[in-house]
Amino acid sequence: MDNSKIKRYTVTAALPYTNGPVHIGHLAGVYIPADIYARYLRSNKRDVKFICGSDENGVPITLKAKREGITPQEVVDKYHKIIGDSFKEFGVSFDIYHRTSSLTHHQTAADFFETLYDKGVFTEEVTEQYYDATAKQFLADRYITGTCPKCGNENAYGDQCENCGSTLNATDLINPKSTLSGDKPILKETKNWFLPLDKYEDRLRTYIESHKEWRPNVYGQCQSWLNAGLQPRAMTRDLDWGVRVPLRDAEGKVLYVWFDAPIGYISATKELCNYAKLDVWNPIAEEYYISSHESDKCGWEEYWKSDETKLVHFIGKDNIVFHCIIFPAMLMAHGEYTLADNVPANEFLNLEGQKISTSKNWAVWLNEYLREFEGKQDVLRYVLTATAPETKDNDFTWKDFQARNNNELVAILGNFVNRVVVLTHKYFGGSVPTCMEITDVDQAVIDELAGYPGKVSASIENYRFREALSEVMNVARLGNKYLAETEPWKLIKTDEDRVRTILNIALQIAANIQILIEPFLPFTAEKLMKMLQNGGHDWDDAGTVSLLKRGHEIGEAVLLFDKIEDAEIDFQIEKLNQSKASNAASNIIAVPAKENIQFDDFSAMDIRVATIVAAEKVEKTKKLLKLTVNTGIDERTVVSGIAEYYKPEDIVGKQVSMIINLAPREIKGILSQGMILMAENAEGKLTFVAPVEKFQEGSVIR
Ligand code: 2FM
Ligand code: ZN
Repeated sequence: MDNSKIKRYTVTAALPYTNGPVHIGHLAGVYIPADIYARYLRSNKRDVKFICGSDENGVPITLKAKREGITPQEVVDKYHKIIGDSFKEFGVSFDIYHRTSSLTHHQTAADFFETLYDKGVFTEEVTEQYYDATAKQFLADRYITGTCPKCGNENAYGDQCENCGSTLNATDLINPKSTLSGDKPILKETKNWFLPLDKYEDRLRTYIESHKEWRPNVYGQCQSWLNAGLQPRAMTRDLDWGVRVPLRDAEGKVLYVWFDAPIGYISATKELCNYAKLDVWNPIAEEYYISSHESDKCGWEEYWKSDETKLVHFIGKDNIVFHCIIFPAMLMAHGEYTLADNVPANEFLNLEGQKISTSKNWAVWLNEYLREFEGKQDVLRYVLTATAPETKDNDFTWKDFQARNNNELVAILGNFVNRVVVLTHKYFGGSVPTCMEITDVDQAVIDELAGYPGKVSASIENYRFREALSEVMNVARLGNKYLAETEPWKLIKTDEDRVRTILNIALQIAANIQILIEPFLPFTAEKLMKMLQNGGHDWDDAGTVSLLKRGHEIGEAVLLFDKIEDAEIDFQIEKLNQSKASNAASNIIAVPAKENIQFDDFSAMDIRVATIVAAEKVEKTKKLLKLTVNTGIDERTVVSGIAEYYKPEDIVGKQVSMIINLAPREIKGILSQGMILMAENAEGKLTFVAPVEKFQEGSVIR
């Protein structure tokens, strides 16, 4: 888009499903880069609306409600709060965090559908869809899983395979299975409204091909869908949770969640702009002034329907098709909307070498991080930006998190700022010293500094946030190098004027860092602002050495970052190990059940509580122990295959359950008169089945 034409920006971040907290994968993929971009634009005094909210419709929500035994509304209320609060505390600077269960959203999405319907865009088709006869429900999207016909992933959903990124129709799945009952579904006829994507193929191709600057992963995925040929796609579902289809003959049907969710960006913008009208204070009535006139002036439409608006969607790679093909086709069909200028989708972030998984609790959850690393929002923001999966999947490890904090944030950035502030207090009582004569060394630093804002801008405007952050860190490196070369702590004894110049320039570097780091590490920028007592500057001021006037009083030195100790990291690694262990345990599948027996078969067995009174190894065997047991009726001998698990001396006195009427058998020359009951797990480990408290020998077990 021609930069000179841009008057405003609409920046959206994918609406998270409200069925669980957000984790580091979401942050690295979507929310941190989007926040950097929005903050950068604001620092450049651009008009920007940064939009997000909770995606509260669709099957992910109803599934969660079924699993937790609560209503879908309770699910979305719970997670909307958890997610919204965490984003706020993490410093994600949305102008609005809206929700798609709101009235504004329901109305906006229904109106959008109606407009398309009235224009004759949809085709109405009766097709056979999967139906769970036990649950008496059609199986849309995540209600059904099966094998992906494209990549063979056995856990593909009815609308999408998260492994290969293909969009699917439930009827494409091989071996489909209902996630409600586990049954094989049957096919049943139902009517739905389809968006004929094939009719938009040419326009979509023209649109995509006019954006060769998009990231190769995004552009490439779009090309391959277009080349494969687009198919009509149902935009309605037989479900009872979501935005009702606004037609008379659509009882029991709601909009497909991927139809309504991107409209969520629009409804959130509307809501944001309507709130703006409340800002007008009426001094006579002593209340906020609400008028349709103000509401019109606020103009949400400018952010969606103007070719002077740059629309950018930040998403994860599993959302590419919905934002680059389906949503643009919807907007084209509507006719009034501007299309996205860029969709900088990230790849995936792994955790300690494994795919992040909500169901396996293999994740670092934002709400837990905020609790366990209080005040360290910027450390996570830093690490996730420095390792962002911009061009390929990347890995987050706790050791790397610790190393980047200790070796980069503490040792480079924190150290530089601390030295400058401490020395200024020590030598000049906290007052910015005058810049005296400039040497070649100073000039070289000043020249280098002047180039950084442009470099960082270019990287951010091209969505290369890792590169941008590393350039900002280079400013701190420049500062450290300058101090190391000029050694003001040595010169102070001989040449105080020279030290004045050095500290002046070093302080200007710190003030530049304050501006340049703000989009990435806003809490650090805030601390710097307090330390330097320096507010009111924005991006345009960066690159100069006139940010702090001579004589300006700076604040006390505070540490920007603290070292992270091994114990904190070990605690996190242990948490993950626990997830691993409980996953391994739940992966062990119990042996299948045996055929049913009659009650008489069971009651024929005489099972009693018995106590082991003596035990010894059976010679020349590895597994057998000869036990003498008190059955309450008699004392008798039993041979038991437990020698690998129990030592004879450890089990004397233990109580067990024993079948006492099993026909005696001779084992290794010993007559065994009964059988001790043991539980055996999937790995073959044995343990006694015993009364939980000391019980009288001979008690009947039934
Ligand atoms: O993948 C997800 O988490 C979706 N809830 C993203 C929706 S983005 C948008 F279209 F709302
Ligand atoms: Zn697949």
